Amino acid sequence: MTVDEMYQKMKRMLGDVVPDFELRYKAKLAVEINQLKKEKNAVILGHNYMEPALFHSVPDYAGDSLELSRKAAQTDADIIVFCGVKFMAETAKILNPTKTVLIPSMKAGCSLAESITAADVRALRQKFPGVPVVTYVNTYADVKAESDICCTSGNAVAVVESLGTDTVIFLPDEYLAGNVARITGKRIIFPTLTPGEKVDELDYQLIGWRGRCEVHEKFTVQDIQNVRAQFPDVVILSHPECSPEVVAASDFSGSTSAMIKYVEQTDAPRYLLLTECAMGDNIAAANPDKNMLRLCSVRCPHMNQITLEDTLKALQNIQYVVDVPKDIRVRAVQAVERMLTIG
Ligand code: 13P
Ligand code: SF4
Repeated sequence: MTVDEMYQKMKRMLGDVVPDFELRYKAKLAVEINQLKKEKNAVILGHNYMEPALFHSVPDYAGDSLELSRKAAQTDADIIVFCGVKFMAETAKILNPTKTVLIPSMKAGCSLAESITAADVRALRQKFPGVPVVTYVNTYADVKAESDICCTSGNAVAVVESLGTDTVIFLPDEYLAGNVARITGKRIIFPTLTPGEKVDELDYQLIGWRGRCEVHEKFTVQDIQNVRAQFPDVVILSHPECSPEVVAASDFSGSTSAMIKYVEQTDAPRYLLLTECAMGDNIAAANPDKNMLRLCSVRCPHMNQITLEDTLKALQNIQYVVDVPKDIRVRAVQAVERMLTIG
């Protein structure tokens, strides 16, 4: 595709959300990236939260974390460029270790992944012996290595139910745990850790952790009430990293891709997304006939680090290489692959 063709394509989709001078500049970058991608036999995986110009131009596959981990496991490209955050790139490396995995910015972290360490998980196992540990994929590889099984927002309920146990340790997202508890009917407790302390009587079923997504924790029930007062016919979609109260007050909750599919299929007069805002722009661009309320101003500062400029540099300089030490990877892969067999 020539630069002009790319510019025309981007303009058709993004003319309302990205200024024209920016589109011209970004079209040129996107064409360079796509050429280098072919030359170097690379594949680009783009999370649904990527900024609109990047999202609609360079990823070979776009999706939620579950879909992208499946693509990472299946690809036979030599290089995987992960346009997402570090835990996602690590998961790609865990699943497909012979490939070179690149992330365009080393600053793309995640507040949930930062909230818990491998030592925290070991301490919880000591405190609750025999209780299976489910960790959200929004964790680093060493935490996954201490887990029995991983989950994403798209399969958390199925993963917890697949264990068939009365008690589950669910880490580290307090809100996702609360939402899973609400759906599965399990109670949830948040233990204060005292190293070495043993608990004899388990009168709880889901043991959680106080991690939160710094983006989704910002949405409140008051926001929902305000919007419904002004637009009574609005359909509200929330990500399960929002608080259980916000999710309960919404009309639908699901992974980023589940929200995209919902919008594609809905005939609601208007809808509102309670999630990261770049995704709102991406959905609006793909569904110009649908009426999205643009009340969103929350960007994930980590996803926001990934730019077309840095994606080009990633391919030019083969940077930044994401590695997972073998002893961690061989333990982490069991938890991730076990998740992929569930759904
Ligand atoms: P999804 O798996 O739903 O794409 O969520 C990933 C994420 O980081 C949401 O904040
Ligand atoms: Fe992490 Fe939240 Fe950003 Fe997702 S949106 S990457 S959970 S900080």
